[in-house]
Amino acid sequence: MNPGSDDEAAIERMVRLFYQRGLADPVLGPIFRSAIHDWEPHIARVADFWSGVVHGTGRYSANAYAPHAKLDFPPEAFGHWLAVFESAAAETLKPEHAARALHVARHMAQSFRMGLFPFQDAKGRPSRKP
Ligand code: HEM
Repeated sequence: MNPGSDDEAAIERMVRLFYQRGLADPVLGPIFRSAIHDWEPHIARVADFWSGVVHGTGRYSANAYAPHAKLDFPPEAFGHWLAVFESAAAETLKPEHAARALHVARHMAQSFRMGLFPFQDAKGRPSRKP
C-alpha cells in the first residue's frame, strides 16, 4: 500500500508521543532509558514497524519479538505499555488507523507476554521461571 505523507507523518508523531509518555512513565521510563541509546534510528525503525502494521508498507521485516527476549522487565510493564500506546495512537492517528494499530498491539503484547513469562509463580503471577 502507498500511504499519503500525512499518514506517514502521523505514524512518526505517534512514535514520538509514545516515547515521550513512555519515558515519563515510572515503569517504562527506566526500561527504555537503559536499552535505547541511539534514539533517532530506533524511532525510525519503530515507525517502519507501525507503518507496516497500519498501511501494509512492508518496511519492517525483522523479528520484533527478539530484542524483547534480551530485556529484563516485570510483566506489569505490559499494562503500562498498552496504556501509553493507546493514548498516543488515539491522539495522532485517524480513528480507523488507531483501531488497527491497537488491535495488533494488544495481540502482540499478549503473545510477547506468553513468550517472556510462560510460567506462574507460587502466587499465580506470570513468571519467567517454572
Ligand atoms: C512491556 C512491554 C514492552 C516493553 C517494555 C518494550 C520495550 C522495548 C525496548 C527497550 C526496545 C528496544 C530494544 C533494543 O533496541 O535493544 C523495544 C523495541 C521494539 N519494540 Fe518493544 N516493548 C514492549 C512491547 C512491545 C510490543 C507489544 C510491540 C509491538 C506491538 C513492540 C514493538 C517493538 C518494536 C517494533 C521494536 C524495535 C525492534 C527492532 O529494533 O527491530 N514492543 N521495545
